[in-house]
Amino acid sequence: MNDLSLTGDALVSTDHRFMIHPLHHPQDHAAPKIFVSAKGAMLRTADGKDFIDGLSALWNVNIGHGRKELAAAAAKQMETLDYASAYAGYTNEPAVRLAERIVGLAYSNSAAVYFTTSGAESNESAFKFARYHWKRLGKPGKVKIISRRYGYHGVTMGAMSATSLPNYHKMFGPMIPEFKQVAPPYPYRWPGNGDAGIGAADAVEALIQAEGPDTIAAIIAEPVMGSGGVIVPPATYFPRLRQICDRHDVLLIADEVITGFGRTGQWFGMGHWGVEPDLFSFAKGVTSGYLPLGGVVISRKLHDVIQSAPADEKFMHAATYSGHPVCCAVGLANIDIMDKEGLVERARVEGDRFRAGLETLASLSCVGEVRGIGMLAALELVEDKGSKKPAKGLGAKVVAQAAERGLILRVRAAADGPPASGDVLCLAPPLSTPAATLDRIVQIVGESIQAVL
Ligand SMILES: Cc1ncc(COP(=O)(O)O)c(C=O)c1O
Repeated sequence: MNDLSLTGDALVSTDHRFMIHPLHHPQDHAAPKIFVSAKGAMLRTADGKDFIDGLSALWNVNIGHGRKELAAAAAKQMETLDYASAYAGYTNEPAVRLAERIVGLAYSNSAAVYFTTSGAESNESAFKFARYHWKRLGKPGKVKIISRRYGYHGVTMGAMSATSLPNYHKMFGPMIPEFKQVAPPYPYRWPGNGDAGIGAADAVEALIQAEGPDTIAAIIAEPVMGSGGVIVPPATYFPRLRQICDRHDVLLIADEVITGFGRTGQWFGMGHWGVEPDLFSFAKGVTSGYLPLGGVVISRKLHDVIQSAPADEKFMHAATYSGHPVCCAVGLANIDIMDKEGLVERARVEGDRFRAGLETLASLSCVGEVRGIGMLAALELVEDKGSKKPAKGLGAKVVAQAAERGLILRVRAAADGPPASGDVLCLAPPLSTPAATLDRIVQIVGESIQAVL
């Protein structure tokens, strides 16, 4: 029988016996926070403490916690049609309506959606869409995927091979050899003279040429790097990368798992630079995390190739839960709320105000760059402001101080590279977070930094 009455110590000791967690190490999990309820931008733990959810859980709870509309949409759909296959020959209304809705919100070249249940699965699917595309067009040698140093794309085998944060590789190598990473310079802190965006994009072109364009299927890039430390590219980067991809017949995959669904102040992140990807992955914000859902949106060019395939070249890619009616019904309810409450616009306007607040902390001796876009922000910790010498190890202390004061945020540790960067505090509160709560986050971050100085 299910026993839902375990609390406190009993729950933790049962957890220790029976659960393996993401990024598992027993030391990190000696005294976990036990979340029991959530509302808006707040999370409550079993010992009755309230925390501001400064990262929207895992950059995903875009509309905020506890919205009854999503619970109602899930319950209604479950009572009507709990699950049915969406394999070829079958379909269901929530999946069809959500696909149409997402294509309507996406890029002008967007044509169709393949649904998944996570970010990594979306990226795996995107890689396979890319290989499929070139095989169909008689270029079977175009199989390699380029990704960028410090990018994060998930940790299943293909996605991990595209992810370029060394800590995720150490105990799981070797990577899939057809995945190639473009080393720094990446679109930030270009070391030479000249335009950082152009230089970083040209480094991708150099890799394409070195590998041979006939071997490259696609490049995958987050419009704004998230787990890598909230890195916003220079405005010239993606337009130049688009030109390079076109020049060499390389598909551009945007990983919009964090940047999708309003996080950056636009429905999708590449919109900031007027660039249209050939395909893009999404997850997280599509349901604000209430149920697992993700997907890949393909452009007309790719769609035409799939739709015109002979029977013996059909798209043999699949998953039981692709087009899950309950997840899709929740996705529709989530987008309805984002629309009605103007949350994308709010991410832009309140996000700017929030970052302006964080910038006031730049006067503290260990704060380097404060950066971000929309409701996505980062604050770099440095030992020496002049030289921007990174402060390593400070981040974890600030996170602990912030927790004492009732704020959950995340640190992107210097240990994950790049060598020129120190610990980075990452913030991505729900797009609906009240202005007073955003101000309180700024205040707590400031107090927490001062406490460790
Ligand atoms: C940009 C990006 N892509 C992919 C993923 C992987 O998503 P998931 O954890 O749902 O597999 C993440 C997760 O944080 C992400 O930030």
